[in-house]
Amino acid sequence: MLKEKTILLGVTGGIAAYKAVELLRLYVKAGAEVFVVMTKGACEFVTPLTFQTLSGNPVHTELFNLYQEREIGHISLADRADLVVVAPATANIIGKVAGGLADDLLSTTLMATKAPVLFVPAMNVNMYENPLYQANQKKLEEFGYHFVEPVTGYLACGWEGKGKMPEPLAVFEETLRLLSPQDLSGETVLVTAGPTREELDPVRYLSNYSSGKMGYAIARAARQRGARVILVSGPTALPVPCGVEVVQVVSARQMREAVMERLAKATVVVKAAAVADYRPAERSEQKIKKGQEAELGLTLEKTTDILAELGQCKTTQLLVGFAAETTDLVENARKKLETKNLDLIVANDVSRSDAGFDVDTNAVRLLYRDGSSEELPLLSKDEVAQQLLDRIVRLRCTTA
Ligand code: CTP
Repeated sequence: MLKEKTILLGVTGGIAAYKAVELLRLYVKAGAEVFVVMTKGACEFVTPLTFQTLSGNPVHTELFNLYQEREIGHISLADRADLVVVAPATANIIGKVAGGLADDLLSTTLMATKAPVLFVPAMNVNMYENPLYQANQKKLEEFGYHFVEPVTGYLACGWEGKGKMPEPLAVFEETLRLLSPQDLSGETVLVTAGPTREELDPVRYLSNYSSGKMGYAIARAARQRGARVILVSGPTALPVPCGVEVVQVVSARQMREAVMERLAKATVVVKAAAVADYRPAERSEQKIKKGQEAELGLTLEKTTDILAELGQCKTTQLLVGFAAETTDLVENARKKLETKNLDLIVANDVSRSDAGFDVDTNAVRLLYRDGSSEELPLLSKDEVAQQLLDRIVRLRCTTA
């Protein structure tokens, strides 16, 4: 996701410096080249050796160090970055930059760079709420610097309040957003994900193996590319994606209501959820007790096909469905595309062990309304999401 991107990671002296180590790992794993600049204070919390080992690049700590300056000078660091991330960012570094000061390697590099800069503030709640700090942040935002909001919680100094550095994954996602083309800005993408659960009684339900990974990947990728994203999710174990409006539902009926209520706001709908086709005709209020019978019959009734209903009532929305198949992939998917009145369907052979439910990869075939189709190779679900959004952007351009 970050191949061919160079990130300059500035680490300043706060207890959250340990989280910058995990952030660095996420960047490196995503393919980025990362150079780390540490302030003197940061070196009191984590050693440069940790960052050097994980980044595979020399760590820079001093402005007037002949060896470091010859190896790769501060101007060169500033020039080669696609993005500068300062995490954690103390009140001190933010104050310095807001005041136009450049008295150490990091503040000098920040002064010299033309790359976008993302600050991840982390500090004591009283420092964060101090009007001087707030004025500095506001000033920097007005100059185009980006910020990730700190989170509220128990702070290392013993106080409760706003000032904690968000989890590295949240910062990583914001990084992806800043480095992505904003080709979905202005769009509102409504995504459904995960399974539904249809209750038999208070302790039992019917469901399926969907993990929600594909739908969540689409929601994250759409947000990275500038869309407003509404994610209607069945029960999953996945973390809520940052910057996405999440509506948690359980049953097919609740999913239908949640989707229909929000349809008018959407310009694109992607239905990746594995919705139950049938639910128990009756839900017992009490736990069903074991009887003397050797067999127990279950009467099921059909749920509403949400996607088919969307196909009937949609106005200008681009409608994308998924087809989970174990046989006759293309024929079955094409039938669904036509009967449900879709613009695009993602055909998924869920009998494969490396595609479909609950794995991190997917192999799909995309079928279009005009009869054409294309096969994507085996990819991570994040990559499938990006490729699908490329097609959605193209279709939106041709229909807009
Ligand atoms: N879908 C839906 N509401 C349902 C059932 C399915 O919105 N009650 C949507 C799914 O989200 C998916 C598409 O329809 O985008 C196809 O779902 P799939 O399970 O592959 O097929 P079905 O239409 O349910 O048909 P079948 O189970 O017979 O293959």
